[in-house]
Amino acid sequence: MNKKTILSGIQATGSLTLGNYLGALNNWVEMQEEYDCYYMIADLHTLTIRNNPETLKENTLKLIALYIASGLNPEKNTIFIQSHVPAHTQLSWILNCYTYMGELNRMTQFKDKSSKHADNINSGLFTYPVLMAADILAYNADLVPVGDDQKQHLELTRDIAERFNSLYGETFKIPEPYTKKVGARIMGLQNPTAKMSKSSQDPMDKILLTDSPDEIRKKFKKAVTDSENCVRFDRESKPGVSNLMSIYGIIKNKTMDEIEKQFEGQGYGAFKTAVAEAVIERLEPLQNKYNELLENPDKLMAICNKGAKKAEEKANRVLKDVYKKVGLVIE
Ligand code: TRP
Repeated sequence: MNKKTILSGIQATGSLTLGNYLGALNNWVEMQEEYDCYYMIADLHTLTIRNNPETLKENTLKLIALYIASGLNPEKNTIFIQSHVPAHTQLSWILNCYTYMGELNRMTQFKDKSSKHADNINSGLFTYPVLMAADILAYNADLVPVGDDQKQHLELTRDIAERFNSLYGETFKIPEPYTKKVGARIMGLQNPTAKMSKSSQDPMDKILLTDSPDEIRKKFKKAVTDSENCVRFDRESKPGVSNLMSIYGIIKNKTMDEIEKQFEGQGYGAFKTAVAEAVIERLEPLQNKYNELLENPDKLMAICNKGAKKAEEKANRVLKDVYKKVGLVIE
């Protein structure tokens, strides 16, 4: 009964890619038996850049459907929408008062996003990592599965938690990053030295979870490789082929050695076809379930409402403790 707690979330921007699936969702599914898992849609974080309100709403529902279609069982996991649990923003305000401008100024994502959205460097973008800290600390999460781009935010979360604990006594658990067993950092198909990103401008660079079989075949066919024409794992000098091997390896549960043997003497054409077919086969049931779920948005909302209730109970306990510690009068 003493399961460790996991919390993670994805922003409701754009469609998810194969990288999100193999790097995150697929691992979340594996953790649902062993841990007490909280998975949210980080819709409040999405507001730090400008979105079309209708699109945001749609993307939020779609993301919930994708969580479930990927295999997250709503009975076993707490699936919810961040904005449905006010404790996140309430705790975030308090944590803001224990976070220094200098710390936030050092965040590389803030610097990146400020240069990308130079016309909208809002204070939400600046305090984004504090809301993320609140997401995590409100549940006393032991483990947080995050991509490399979020590691710095998790470090900051630990610093804020330690600072608070040393001022007021043991309040927050210090969360650890959860690093997955398989190194599933999926890179772009056109630019295999950069992460496959849902915000990539080049549609050929990413496989969307909603791509049709033909689109998937076309994208793998055009994926950048090298001129050696030999299926061999070497991230440094063969980033394209190595990335395709990683994708194939995760889906087929094979090691890089096994894949090298399997495709010995075969060219990239045959290998790319095999990768594409493996991806299509894996995504087909997911897509069917996804489409089915989206036909019934009321059911999706019911799942989220139930999740939010459960999340709220836990988060409110932590919030109350924090209120008390800092001297707020609790009614
Ligand atoms: N910032 C994360 C991202 O863009 C999303 C996120 C928000 C998150 N809150 C979180 C991830 C809490 C882990 C834990 O990827």
